[in-house]
Amino acid sequence: MDERLAEVRARLLKLSEAAEADGEPLRWFEELYAGAARNSEEIPWARMEPHPKMVEWIANQPDIQGRALVVGCGLGDDAEWLAAAGFEVTAFDLSQSSIDWCCERFPSSSVNYCVADLLSPPADWLESFDLIVEIHILQAIPEQIRDQAANILPTLLNSNGQLLCIGRLLSTLIPDEPAPPWPLSQVWLEGRFEKLNPVHFNRFVNEDTPTIDRYVAAWSR
Ligand SMILES: C[S@@+](CC[C@H](N)C(=O)[O-])C[C@H]1O[C@@H](n2cnc3c(N)ncnc32)[C@H](O)[C@@H]1O
Repeated sequence: MDERLAEVRARLLKLSEAAEADGEPLRWFEELYAGAARNSEEIPWARMEPHPKMVEWIANQPDIQGRALVVGCGLGDDAEWLAAAGFEVTAFDLSQSSIDWCCERFPSSSVNYCVADLLSPPADWLESFDLIVEIHILQAIPEQIRDQAANILPTLLNSNGQLLCIGRLLSTLIPDEPAPPWPLSQVWLEGRFEKLNPVHFNRFVNEDTPTIDRYVAAWSR
């Protein structure tokens, strides 16, 4: 890990430990975004481009169209790509600063950016979406509330809806970094979405982080 990323990670860990100790385990996301002062290098997960596995998966699913929900949208690149691909996109994040940042980056966007908490989504989102994209969210939520967060995702899909999840896979590869994020097991994911139909589960590694196992997985209603 280069020196700068190590510094950013160290700050993240300090914020997340303090938030956890205060019983507000998700508080640090807003603190990290607000403290970044619009410098994306301060956000360790900011790719500034859509996730390539999402792009690849959607490109192979021409039948999925309509309303898309991007969970924990961060700096908005996945949401913007989906909007350009023809989806009517709602993208939300717990962090007001991340949503303000998205609106500043993409002032003419058709995406409906909003602040919301996956743990208590607006009632009118129930059974509403043709596509839900969850990238690196469940793995960033501590275990004591992770089940609750995961259980909400299927309730937001409409009767033809598809759920796409991308994250770190718990496996025999041992990442050399402390959590968060917490790698998730295939068994845990399949258990959370057992009422949905499994469509796809693929393990992959990124060339630049070969010691981190990852998954791209999809379910349909
Ligand atoms: C690791 S980042 C990933 C961001 C983005 N999906 C990406 O891949 O770049 C996790 C994001 O989820 C957001 N988040 C965490 N818990 C959330 C919740 N309960 N509801 C909505 N967003 C949440 C955080 O603010 C943060 O932007």
